[in-house]
Amino acid sequence: MTIPTYSKITGLGFYVPENVVTNNDLTQYMETSDAWIQERTGIKQRRYFTHGKDTNASLATAASRMALDRAGVTASSVDLIVYATLSPDYYFPGSAFLLQRELGLEGVPVIDIREQCSGFVYALSIADQFIKTGMAKTALVVGSEIQSGLMDKSTRGRNVAVIFGDGAGAAVVQATTDPEHRILSTHLHADGRFAEELYLKEPTSIRTHKDNFDPEGSNVVMNGNTVFKHAVVRFMEVINESLTANGYTADDISLLVPHQANVRISDYVRQQLKLPEDRVYNNIQRYGNTTAASIPIALSEAFEEGRVKSGDLICLAAFGSGFTWASALIKW
Ligand code: COA
Repeated sequence: MTIPTYSKITGLGFYVPENVVTNNDLTQYMETSDAWIQERTGIKQRRYFTHGKDTNASLATAASRMALDRAGVTASSVDLIVYATLSPDYYFPGSAFLLQRELGLEGVPVIDIREQCSGFVYALSIADQFIKTGMAKTALVVGSEIQSGLMDKSTRGRNVAVIFGDGAGAAVVQATTDPEHRILSTHLHADGRFAEELYLKEPTSIRTHKDNFDPEGSNVVMNGNTVFKHAVVRFMEVINESLTANGYTADDISLLVPHQANVRISDYVRQQLKLPEDRVYNNIQRYGNTTAASIPIALSEAFEEGRVKSGDLICLAAFGSGFTWASALIKW
């Protein structure tokens, strides 16, 4: 009889740049206020990278080393890297290659994921499928972003710039035969009809030789109201999908770790699911929205704080540009 292989997260890590940027700091560049930002988003501060010191891959490397340490495995055990980011160091090749080089893992396959705020859950799902089919045994799953350079930090771009921050998170995902402690299921969705509701146009390849780089297209553009309305619906759908697929209800969730998009979105979802505050993790106050990095940073911090324990039912849920939405249900 063949024993089924599952996957489980065996180590978590994160790294954020040292440079703390408060809401008041942003008032140097744009007309905004600490009160407006906190009331609309919950954010108090975020981290920005330091030019010449931090890169997307260097943040990812630091987060990955912590995750590997905590899993008690050496980098040489890793046989797959899945790396989610919307802000790679180069247009190509992806930052997964740079992380692989830093870790000395020549020859190991790397996959770059571009599903923005849902990127980490997509990456986790891919690692889970590779492990379940025997294609990999120890995967490094990473979300890393340096987004502060992609924002228009003048008053014109304030609806976007105040939200996003830089950082990285990582998880070591390994094969297991233990059905009690594993990733139960992952659920992925996308709807390209809304691609331009939250997007970055440049650098674009669809340009004739007469056109120049469009500076207007080199900042993130977001229709915040539309994003908000879709986010609250899709978060609920994809969380319920994961619960139904495994025969659970919201009441069974030990900790919901949502993508840190906006504390108002999190609160809405929490109320709909009738979960008490201590069963939904939020750290957007400290880091802003770090896109693909937000779930692994939040999960790492929750773990450090003792809020993720053996036997807990952990739900990860994300929504973001694309639109994309995704969830993972984990029996820790
Ligand atoms: N500081 C001060 N005022 C600001 C501002 C800022 N940073 N950004 C926008 N404003 C102003 C607007 O100019 C507008 O002014 P007006 O009424 O004079 O025209 C007013 O505040 C309201 O703007 P609006 O965009 O309608 O605000 P909002 O209540 O929708 O909040 C967001 C804006 C971005 C916070 C909100 O739409 C949101 O959170 N959307 C979801 C975003 C998200 O989660 N994105 C990530 C998805 S992964």
